[in-house]
Amino acid sequence: MTGGGPAATGGAPAGLDPRRFADLFATLAPIGRDPATGGYLRPPWSTVDLRCREWFTGQAQARGLRVETDRNGNLWAWYGDPGTGGAVVTGSHLDSVPQGGGYDGPLGIVSAFLALDLLAEHGRVPVRPVGVVAFTEEEGSRFGVACLGSRLLTGTIEPDRAAGLRDADGTTLARAMRAAGHPPDGLGPEPDRLRGIDAFVELHVEQGRALVRPVGVASAIWPHGRYRLDFTGTANHAGTTAMSERQDPMLTLAYTVLAANKAARLRDARATVGRVAVVPNATNAIAAQVTAWLDARAPSTSELNELVATIGAKARERAERDGTRVALQHESVSARTDFDTGLRDRIAALLGGAPVLPTGAGHDAGVLAAHVPTAMLFVRNPTGVSHAPAEHATDADAARGVDALAEVLAELACRA
Ligand code: GLV
Ligand code: MN
Ligand code: MN
Repeated sequence: MTGGGPAATGGAPAGLDPRRFADLFATLAPIGRDPATGGYLRPPWSTVDLRCREWFTGQAQARGLRVETDRNGNLWAWYGDPGTGGAVVTGSHLDSVPQGGGYDGPLGIVSAFLALDLLAEHGRVPVRPVGVVAFTEEEGSRFGVACLGSRLLTGTIEPDRAAGLRDADGTTLARAMRAAGHPPDGLGPEPDRLRGIDAFVELHVEQGRALVRPVGVASAIWPHGRYRLDFTGTANHAGTTAMSERQDPMLTLAYTVLAANKAARLRDARATVGRVAVVPNATNAIAAQVTAWLDARAPSTSELNELVATIGAKARERAERDGTRVALQHESVSARTDFDTGLRDRIAALLGGAPVLPTGAGHDAGVLAAHVPTAMLFVRNPTGVSHAPAEHATDADAARGVDALAEVLAELACRA
């Protein structure tokens, strides 16, 4: 283990050599990276995902950890026997958004293995089981529901609904799991597994510019949700249909995107339309149907509800003017998470008064927090960019993150 708290947060020389972080991170980094952009394509249950899982298994086994895949496809590596209860778990996820950065998720897993190495090197022997977990489909990039693995584990999504979720090609989660060699027959909550965990700590790259020191501690996650907007119009010829005679759903969408932007700005909230599907998607045809996915986030549930209601009302108003129709569906909504204050304050103090900050990003830790005392560590992101190739953490900051995580694990798992 490192020395005192300041070493974990303030740049004192002790602790993990940044080159050790760089070396281990480099073994995972090529998997799923698009050489043309530097972005990552790691959809769950793809061949790339299976290679990430092999990497995880290899790292765990090299450390003498026992690896298991749970009924929902989450991967666990155990020091000690989780059956005895009282476990301390860390970890994150290995999947990415399409063309995402390399740190969102993997930073927490690489750091977990290195933190266990530090404990061993400093003779700190856990007196409880310690787990490293890689949750599946955290980004919801393939099947649409974020934090799918942790939602299934905690019973926050119906197993039948999850099994039937479809990707862009129409493949269901059940089929994708089966094809990847993980039959989905046991999907669903695992209360006994959760009962055996006394604390979960996820380390994650910070996803904006809010953290100015190498390591911080999370206070809360904003409530957020994903909503599907189906705009229906009338397909017709782009050259022969007078502008006044169109029922163009693309126009309704365009207005709705602007209205969402304005509604979010007025509330200091966030609204994003980052994905659309157009039918028939032809240059010289007015669209028949446009589907758009809205990602909305706000500091409080009432502000989020108000934001989404305003956007829905604006879309309906505009649809009436355009002669189109719009239907708004909630695909997945996550309540505000306030992390366990006792654990948060204990960790912030342990790390020498590390900054405590909220985030607008979603995490498996937010799902776990309703079931298990949970905390998050953030590592500074010098670009402030995330979900894009420019997402970054320096090796030096990442090493300080490992020091901090090792201190936390020592505190939570190595004392009687
Ligand atoms: C996950 O990273 C999210 O915030 O959408
Ligand atoms: Mn993410
Ligand atoms: Mn993440």
